[in-house]
Amino acid sequence: MQVENSGQDFAGRAVLLIGGTSGIGEAAALLFAKAGANLLIGGLGAAEGAAVAAACRAQGVEAEFLETDVREEAQVARIVARTVERFGRLDVAVNNAGVEGRFGPVQDSTVDDFDKLIGVNLRGIFLGMKYEIPHMLAQGRGAIVNTSSSAGVTGIANVALYTASKHAVVGLTKASSLELAPAGIRVNAVAPGPVNTGLLHRMIAGKIDVSVIAGSVPMGRVSEPREAAAAILWLASDAASYVTGHTLVVDGGLTVP
Ligand SMILES: NC(=O)c1ccc[n+]([C@@H]2O[C@H](COP(=O)([O-])OP(=O)(O)OC[C@H]3O[C@@H](n4cnc5c(N)ncnc54)[C@H](O)[C@@H]3O)[C@@H](O)[C@H]2O)c1
Repeated sequence: MQVENSGQDFAGRAVLLIGGTSGIGEAAALLFAKAGANLLIGGLGAAEGAAVAAACRAQGVEAEFLETDVREEAQVARIVARTVERFGRLDVAVNNAGVEGRFGPVQDSTVDDFDKLIGVNLRGIFLGMKYEIPHMLAQGRGAIVNTSSSAGVTGIANVALYTASKHAVVGLTKASSLELAPAGIRVNAVAPGPVNTGLLHRMIAGKIDVSVIAGSVPMGRVSEPREAAAAILWLASDAASYVTGHTLVVDGGLTVP
């Protein structure tokens, strides 16, 4: 039997990563760059985004940051178009932008909380896909990875709207994967458990200590961003060539049924 490589080589591939200025997205950008991908990086935070792009270029690839607010349709359309303009194609799209909710019971949430969470975590991912998919259809290939959460596969008290938005990402991923499978485009989601990022710390600030969260995880710790990022890379890679419509849980056992 011939031994092949792992299929996780992205040399020369064009990757669009929206929500790449910090945390999981930053870690994924660096892993993609180390694996040879050229990157268009979007998200909020001009200085952070420029720094991530520079760190990617230091790996010897092309990388550009374009500040992009996924609440603005024209900005999402612009970054997708820029990726294709710069690299000539779009091999991988990672829709990772997300915001935390207000910690507390659902009845204490406001309509503004609802609009913010759905507007970024669901509408933002929808907008990314809406503009990415036509390019992938024209190419006859592509891989999309959306970021859900362990809150996308189970109920988590006190973050009901965040939980709803992340369940919706799983639904969007499943339905679109069926539409796109015949065209050679794979659509998957990653569902991280608690990850040591600004989002987690903002979400629980003043309400619950991170050690309590860690203690609720069978592995006894929260994860580091690169652990979720590694799952994103695998789903985006040729190693996952027969995987679509899947939500890959990376949560230290938190949601084991
Ligand atoms: N940290 C966790 O515990 C955890 C767990 C499960 C899932 N997630 C998800 O992982 C993803 C990344 O979060 P993170 O933990 O790395 O946090 P983070 O705050 O470090 O990163 C969030 C990213 O989303 C971007 N973003 C936020 N609002 C945006 C907007 N309106 N337009 C464009 N970009 C926007 C930010 O610029 C940043 O790049 C999110 O979708 C989050 O819901 C996080």
